[in-house]
Amino acid sequence: MAKMWAGRSAGGTAKAADDFNSSIAVDGRMYEEDILGSLAHAEMLAGCGVISYAEFGEIAEGLKGILADIKEGRLPLDPDAEDVHMFVEAELTSRIGDAGRKLHTARSRNDQVATDMRLYLRKESGEVISLIKELMRAVLSQAKATKDYILPGYTHLQRAQPVVFAHHLLAYAMMLARDAGRISDAVRRMNVSPLGSCALAGTTYDTDRIFTAKKLGFDGVCLNSMDGVSDRDFCVELISAFALVMTHLSRFAEEVVLWTSSEFGFAELDDAYTTGSSIMPQKKNSDMAELVRGKTGRVYGDLMAMLTVLKGLPLAYNKDMQEDKECVFDALDTVKACLGIFAPMIATMRPNKENMYRAAGKGFINATDLADYLVGKGIPFRTAYKTVGEIVAYGIKTDKTLEELSLEEYKKFSDLFDEDLYDAISLASCVRRRTSEGGTGAASVERQIKFVEGFVK
Ligand code: ARG
Repeated sequence: MAKMWAGRSAGGTAKAADDFNSSIAVDGRMYEEDILGSLAHAEMLAGCGVISYAEFGEIAEGLKGILADIKEGRLPLDPDAEDVHMFVEAELTSRIGDAGRKLHTARSRNDQVATDMRLYLRKESGEVISLIKELMRAVLSQAKATKDYILPGYTHLQRAQPVVFAHHLLAYAMMLARDAGRISDAVRRMNVSPLGSCALAGTTYDTDRIFTAKKLGFDGVCLNSMDGVSDRDFCVELISAFALVMTHLSRFAEEVVLWTSSEFGFAELDDAYTTGSSIMPQKKNSDMAELVRGKTGRVYGDLMAMLTVLKGLPLAYNKDMQEDKECVFDALDTVKACLGIFAPMIATMRPNKENMYRAAGKGFINATDLADYLVGKGIPFRTAYKTVGEIVAYGIKTDKTLEELSLEEYKKFSDLFDEDLYDAISLASCVRRRTSEGGTGAASVERQIKFVEGFVK
């Protein structure tokens, strides 16, 4: 097949090599960014006197026509094209002739692809942040409705201390807020323009990189042209941020699976986000949550693949780098799909207050509070801890909860016990009295709600 770069090689490439080499199936999605980059570049060339304004006019009109035609489905991307950059340039040249052949002056596909990637990922990062906020809104609405739903908080998946469901859910809102912050951080470092780095060494033409950077909404330019064309740190950073989003979603997903099991019964998912079994008529499976948990592995894989592609590459551009898009786009698509399904799944979930409370009533989860009660009467914590441990053992032996033991029984362990102990260990007061900053007490939960409300605005 005849190539735009045909010149040195006269023999032509094998069809199999063309197919193997082509990346348009993957990079075709960046057609708009490619065209916007070319528009800015052409305007800069005219401004610097490298091409005439008349030629820029022809190029601009041609590129805008191509953009509209692709968007409106009149111009399908040619699957045989080498990549989206070649496709657009060839189409432009076939439409406007010689002016089109001037577009690639003082530019290379190496700075072009790096520019397109940054523009595309900057835009998509905004989408991911919006989706994160949408999920945070779902968490928020559930949290507001469950401020007095008491359930066991767990450590080691053993019942530990009572918390309210709102507090448990808001922990995920905190993770998601950090995720959004990490993505914004990555975008800030990503948002410098490699355009004008050319193949690797810069150019002999009198160009204006600041102009194209401003035109494309970059905060500045890459200061080293070799770094400009070969840096893919922004891909690694972004996939890494996405991987952490997936970690959080996967932990959340696991909790949803547990909560919706008959063993826990803490919540029920809406039918719209569950599936049945092809053989067991009674089943209602939380497939969406499980799939999110499963897809986490893909995104971790994308991160590892991206790092490995870059490892050992000498400066500057190497064709290996074409593989960056497979990694970063797969991670992007996966994280968007997972956030997209998670938000309505959480928004429509029905928490079960009674079942949570019932579980909280078992397992001596107010034992810490009983020890704190004795501390309040002047006993050192370690001594109180030991006494309560003996009481718990006695409770297990006699099959009674701490609330069910009589005051006479308590007195056998310490005469500091009084009638007021029952109020101190009621689940409601265990929660109410956890007033420390960030605890499960009502004021802290309110503060968290305010924070999340402000964040998702
Ligand atoms: N499709 C290529 C990529 O994504 C574009 C850059 C090609 N540059 C080159 N020197 N062959 O990496």
